[in-house]
Amino acid sequence: MTPIFEKDKDLGHLTTFGIPARAALYASFENIEQLKRLLLSEEFLENEFFVLGGGSNVLFNGDFKGLVLHCLIKGIKKYQKDETTVFAIAGGGESWEDFVAWTIREGLAGLENLSGIPGTVGASPVQNIGAYGVEVGSLIHKVECYDIMNREVVTLSAEQCRFGYRDSIFKNEGKGRYIVLRVSFKLHPSSVATNLEYGPLRKLEEKLGRRPSISEVADEVVSIRNSKLPDPKKIGSAGSFFKNPVVRIFFYKEVMLALNPDIPYYETDDPLYVKIPAGWLIEHAGLKGYSVGGAEVYPEQCLVLANKGGAKAGEVIELAEHVKKVVLEKFGVTLHPEVNIVDSDIKVTILGSGTSKGVPEVGCFCPVCRSEDPKDNRLRCSALVETKGVRLLIDISPDFRQQSIRAGITALDAALVTHTHYDHVGGFDDLRPLCGGRIFPVYLRKEVNDDLHHRLDYCFREHPYPGVPTFDMHEIDDAPFMIKGVKILPINILHGKLPIVGYRIGDFAYLTDVKTIPEEEIYKLRDLDVLVINALRYKDHFAHLTVDEALEIIKVLKPKRTYLTHMCHEVGKHSEFEKKLPENVYPAYDGLVIHTR
Ligand code: EPU
Repeated sequence: MTPIFEKDKDLGHLTTFGIPARAALYASFENIEQLKRLLLSEEFLENEFFVLGGGSNVLFNGDFKGLVLHCLIKGIKKYQKDETTVFAIAGGGESWEDFVAWTIREGLAGLENLSGIPGTVGASPVQNIGAYGVEVGSLIHKVECYDIMNREVVTLSAEQCRFGYRDSIFKNEGKGRYIVLRVSFKLHPSSVATNLEYGPLRKLEEKLGRRPSISEVADEVVSIRNSKLPDPKKIGSAGSFFKNPVVRIFFYKEVMLALNPDIPYYETDDPLYVKIPAGWLIEHAGLKGYSVGGAEVYPEQCLVLANKGGAKAGEVIELAEHVKKVVLEKFGVTLHPEVNIVDSDIKVTILGSGTSKGVPEVGCFCPVCRSEDPKDNRLRCSALVETKGVRLLIDISPDFRQQSIRAGITALDAALVTHTHYDHVGGFDDLRPLCGGRIFPVYLRKEVNDDLHHRLDYCFREHPYPGVPTFDMHEIDDAPFMIKGVKILPINILHGKLPIVGYRIGDFAYLTDVKTIPEEEIYKLRDLDVLVINALRYKDHFAHLTVDEALEIIKVLKPKRTYLTHMCHEVGKHSEFEKKLPENVYPAYDGLVIHTR
């Protein structure tokens, strides 16, 4: 049977936020065969896609231009391994609440603390849902998925799922690669509750004078949830909007407690880190009940952003940004959303628009280098691209430290490198604060990787000096690749004779240090909304486009808007240069923010 696609599908009622949004294309699947057929369709191959479960942890910011795949795989069964272990296996499209209620009826202990959570079974490992002292990852035995990359059904063990706090492989490298089909949970036959560490559950035990049963715990959990969280049938929300931030214990004691001695904390598995309840921070930042349009900080539980009626996605996002800003100002901590914000918007921040020497050039006193216009102050070339909640840095310039502080960068998901010249990679060591105990992903060509292994040899030694930055180098070729669900297309270009790479993300392309775009790459740059391209100066250069050469390329590619970058002082002052450029072509400047899709 050929798959059925619905066009212009309303998604509002498929999410718990209940905020209107539409998908250009929508298709559901009830079994693996249907999914396989969908994945072979033209509609899938030509569009970006998003897999929807129960819609309880997602916010569509505007309409989704691609294909929404809705998992409706049903079926629950159990299989007794031995006297103490029963595997409960459920289809990804089963309701989480119904499945947990079934385990309780079957006398299977383990999931009772996770009662009443909206959403689907398929979403539970993605988010590693957790509540009242239990995280689902600790009870997951295996996750059966479809691997889009290798076109096969694979079974990942709990270890391979790499569960962390509200985190898993499915939110990282596996995003856009694995579609969860079925989940197997390792439970044990017992009517007595397993985990009573959470304060109110301990009290329940004291009140009853015995260990409560799994159904008593489930009832208690549901009643605590009902008292704090909005009723999804009446008030739209996605549960906790932010994750509880994890900070170094040193920072908590020395900085946070100095600001407010009452800030609570939870211990984590790592003795160097503590988790701070974001709800407490938001309430004590004075934001209880604060609203933007129809979006409100839910007064009963400030960690929830609620749709109190008619909220628009933009209002929720504006509210979230406000909450983040105030909490950062007040407590020095950055909150990160737990909710998956699905956004086709691409925000590009030009971190540096200057050539390798920067502007002003050391020792130069020309009018441009002496200009007081901040737009004539050009740091070395680099850009920050933010889309779908993913933050990507293109090139790590020697000015990266200054650029990141200026742009307020507190975290990055990965860096993309265009080539190995110092002005594009000189800031690698300054990524150290953003490595934060993890291995920082970098995408680059093999020859650039080889070169960086020599230049940054101290980072790649077997026994490195403690505290050096650590990088996970991903070698790329001509093929498109994914970073946390963002599709990136490499463009092969020539910097003089040196083959280097530019990047296209959606309808945005970033090409720096180009002299020539090979004929066979031109088609990859069709239908662009925004192009950022280098234009060094008017005078010829063996490895860089001049302004006139860049304008010739723009005539061929016909992007809707173009911003020129990698400029030296010879282009003249920004205010004069911009007047000389044709319509829809602009000189970039440091700090410029461009929005596209
Ligand atoms: N608090 C406040 N003001 C508030 C909210 C909370 O002062 O407005 C204080 C509470 O008094 C308490 C502390 O902050 O001392 C923690 O509050 P609570 O236990 O209610 O929530 P949490 O630990 O921040 C997490 C999960 C919830 C889960 C609960 C219970 C996250 C992001 N959230 O919240 O999960 O139900 O623990 O286990 O980890 C969800 O993810 O959607 C969700 C609801």
